Amino acid sequence: MADDKLYERFGREFPKGHALFKDGEAGKEMFVVQSGKVRIHKNVRDVEKVLAILGPGEFFGEMSILNNKPRSASATVEEPARLLVIDPKTFEAMVRGNAEIAVRLIKKLATRLQETDDQIENLLLRDHNSRVVHFLSHIAAKQGSQTAEGLQLEITLKDIAQKIGLEIEPVNEVMNKLIRSRLVKLTESGVVIHDVNKLREFLEFLEMKEKFGDI
Ligand code: CMP
Repeated sequence: MADDKLYERFGREFPKGHALFKDGEAGKEMFVVQSGKVRIHKNVRDVEKVLAILGPGEFFGEMSILNNKPRSASATVEEPARLLVIDPKTFEAMVRGNAEIAVRLIKKLATRLQETDDQIENLLLRDHNSRVVHFLSHIAAKQGSQTAEGLQLEITLKDIAQKIGLEIEPVNEVMNKLIRSRLVKLTESGVVIHDVNKLREFLEFLEMKEKFGDI
């Protein structure tokens, strides 16, 4: 179906801050982001942990529909969004009737699993330096645009802190060390990694230090 036809039938607009659904509720529909952003989050001991910020072309809310389980996380509109809101019957008919949609779904689920594995690896690192550097070097492999100064990532310190489950202050401290070592730079739109390979070497150095201690 053409995009405008899909929007006519399933499209809805949601304001910033709108709670689309909450962790633990029964799933009644799945969503495809056409524009804007949606935050997928979970409260762990009263602290909000952001699992993902989803943008145009991405979907969410399919898990509880596929496996008939309660919502695994909450979804809130982060930036005013146009979403396709698709009921379970239509979703199943789309997947059954279109192999391309099914393959995209599987690929997306595989990517999500990979990202979750990265997050687990990150959470197992003990020191803050390693957590921040590990996160930056992994995200550098997946996104960013090359500029004369290095790889520009559209990510804020708050995003980094939320993703790795640290407060802003320790993330700030590590970033300042990385800036002093000329590994990264903060810009208006995010972070520039001057040389991704050097950042990876720095992570290896931190891992060695963790293993052997300061000599
Ligand atoms: P569902 O369990 O129906 O509701 C919460 C949704 O958040 C879930 O479906 C997925 O679509 C999405 N979701 C859950 N975990 C993640 C994750 N780690 N990354 C991105 N999206 C997720």
